[in-house]
Amino acid sequence: MTGFAHFPAGGLAVVVGGSGGVGGALVSRLRSETGFREVVSLSRSGAPKLDLTSEESIEAAVRSLSGDIRLVIDATGALHGDGFMPEKSLKEISGAHLAWSFAVNAVGPALLMKHFLPLLPKVGPAVFATLSARVGSIGDNNIGGWYSYRASKAALNQLVHTAAIELRRRAPEAVCVALHPGTVATNLSRPFAKTGLDVRPPEVAADDLLAVIAALKPAQTGGFFDYRGDAIAW
Ligand SMILES: NC(=O)c1ccc[n+]([C@@H]2O[C@H](COP(=O)([O-])OP(=O)(O)OC[C@H]3O[C@@H](n4cnc5c(N)ncnc54)[C@H](OP(=O)(O)O)[C@@H]3O)[C@@H](O)[C@H]2O)c1
Repeated sequence: MTGFAHFPAGGLAVVVGGSGGVGGALVSRLRSETGFREVVSLSRSGAPKLDLTSEESIEAAVRSLSGDIRLVIDATGALHGDGFMPEKSLKEISGAHLAWSFAVNAVGPALLMKHFLPLLPKVGPAVFATLSARVGSIGDNNIGGWYSYRASKAALNQLVHTAAIELRRRAPEAVCVALHPGTVATNLSRPFAKTGLDVRPPEVAADDLLAVIAALKPAQTGGFFDYRGDAIAW
């Protein structure tokens, strides 16, 4: 049902952030519904431990993998934590909050691309997808607020687009994209999931994301798409 039949048999799928709400659902769906030889879940609570703020831990986790890596989904990210809540106005901006958001939402995923993209096979379908957020869209920002999260996701989108250009030169069938999962019932959204919002269970979000990923074409590399597969304005 998730449509990965066109991927070569025996490939490896990796979910970074498999300990999270969306990441955990992606791992279970990939394990039960698709034909990947193995689905590896990496997180900072697993072994080997992968912490986005430590390039050494990313390198070691990537080195521990063997085989034909066909799919990498980065399901990490942070909106609140370490004493930070999204800013409602300019007066709440702090360098520490901005730096924290960029470290987790942009620098960490950039390091994942640095270490994973060179391992994607030169021939045949392969995907690196990172979970961004619609609020990272500059063109779609009509209500303001959430400075650090928005800016760090916008930076992530630029990093994905730039890395996709480089990846295409070596592996023309491989795809590198940023995806918006929709509003999903997880720890990340809990403080903000107001009634009236379309908040979807992680399992539904995972199915939607996998359907979008499985249908991606090489020409779509470098793009920013929502869980229905529709392109989002930069
Ligand atoms: N939920 C939504 O409504 C929504 C909407 C738009 C976009 N998104 C995006 O979707 C993605 C997944 O979010 P979610 O809702 O599943 O959130 P979540 O349940 O809070 O999961 C976040 C994941 O990121 C990991 N993470 C955070 N900091 C890390 C670090 N320094 N090193 C390694 N891993 C780290 C967490 O690991 P630990 O378990 O170790 O903390 C966890 O696996 C995020 O990129 C988020 O921005 C979510």
